Amino acid sequence: MAAVDLAGLGLDEGGHLLLARALAGLAPGERLIVTGRHPALRLHLAAWCRAHGHQLAADDSLSVVRGDADDRRWARAVRAGDAAGVPEPRADQGWGLAARGALVEAGGPPLGAHWSQREHVWADIAPQLYAAAAASQWDPATAVNWPAPGDGVPADGVPADDGPADGGPGGVPDEVERAVVQLMTYLVENEQAALIIPARLLSQLHPHYREVMQLLASQAADEARHVEVFTRRALLSGGPLGTSSAGGRASLQTLLDEPDFTTASFLLSVLGEGTFLDLLRFISDHAPDQVTADVTRLAVRDEARHVAFGVSHTAHLAASDKSYLGTLRQAVERRHSALQDTAGLNAEVFDSLVVLAAGSWSPEAISRGWQAVRDLQSRMDEGRRRRLAYIGFPDDEAAELSALHTRNFM
Ligand SMILES: [Fe+2]
Ligand SMILES: [Fe+2]
Repeated sequence: MAAVDLAGLGLDEGGHLLLARALAGLAPGERLIVTGRHPALRLHLAAWCRAHGHQLAADDSLSVVRGDADDRRWARAVRAGDAAGVPEPRADQGWGLAARGALVEAGGPPLGAHWSQREHVWADIAPQLYAAAAASQWDPATAVNWPAPGDGVPADGVPADDGPADGGPGGVPDEVERAVVQLMTYLVENEQAALIIPARLLSQLHPHYREVMQLLASQAADEARHVEVFTRRALLSGGPLGTSSAGGRASLQTLLDEPDFTTASFLLSVLGEGTFLDLLRFISDHAPDQVTADVTRLAVRDEARHVAFGVSHTAHLAASDKSYLGTLRQAVERRHSALQDTAGLNAEVFDSLVVLAAGSWSPEAISRGWQAVRDLQSRMDEGRRRRLAYIGFPDDEAAELSALHTRNFM
């Protein structure tokens, strides 16, 4: 007959582990002889057996008859997919917060996650993108070549009330510095929208799609860093921030109001952040100082991952459901009509791009700056068309949809 010796160990000191281990090898109805020297062993054993559905024999022998409560408890348990493999097409709300691949006991609160179907959230590239995101996190304090304290301080020691007093860091001319501050002000506003949207999608996502959850979390963290570095750059010259236009905010609000996971990801990441890749590169290329070049270059690296997920996910869904291209098309058209009566891009942002690329106020320089911004807009359009074509739109439709994209870039 099976037996277990607990020596001097009490059931309240870990003895229950030896007991449960010995019982696990028995079938219901089989008997386990328990020996031990703990003074309260019989008392504790009786309570433990009651709690775990076993029976303590009525005689003096101190033996336990194995019950079947444990077996019944796990009889209805299910495996929540495969931890290492591809996630299931549908994630059960009953799996709740259980790890993918866990054996999930029946009962427990259902999750109520809105996004619980793989096709609606998945991209095969998500695990690699998350790994790349985790490996590419940068520290705003050290990754940017911030000026040492004292640089950029007004020469007469008196900060101006209106605008930077003595130009920007490293002797950036006043008016170019104002353009940089205006651009940073605009970027922060857009980054805040870009942070809120993945955070909102994340809060409604079934955690069974673990890699997408992790990727969205790192995306939100990336945007938090972008908000920080653009704010810090704007404040470097000590002046007030630039303007925020109603039209620009209206454009971002349409992104915030988009309820569908894929459409939100498409509008934000494929079209908006895709366009921002060119914008950030432009600012980096024409940066009048090292900090502006650093912060925009670092943001481009992160944005490329956000765009890659948006493009891959949207293409993944469009490949499995051809009619989805029509849904995306309608979303672009709807957004275009909603924004038709707004100014779109803040005029001061456009002008700041021209001044940035011009570098000075001579008519020749402004002419060069103007042309550079027109070239930027062409590159943005080409990029959008390329991404739309990859998702599955025919070239002519891709061109049409790209032209309907918001003037606010994001
Ligand atoms: Fe960003
Ligand atoms: Fe982003």
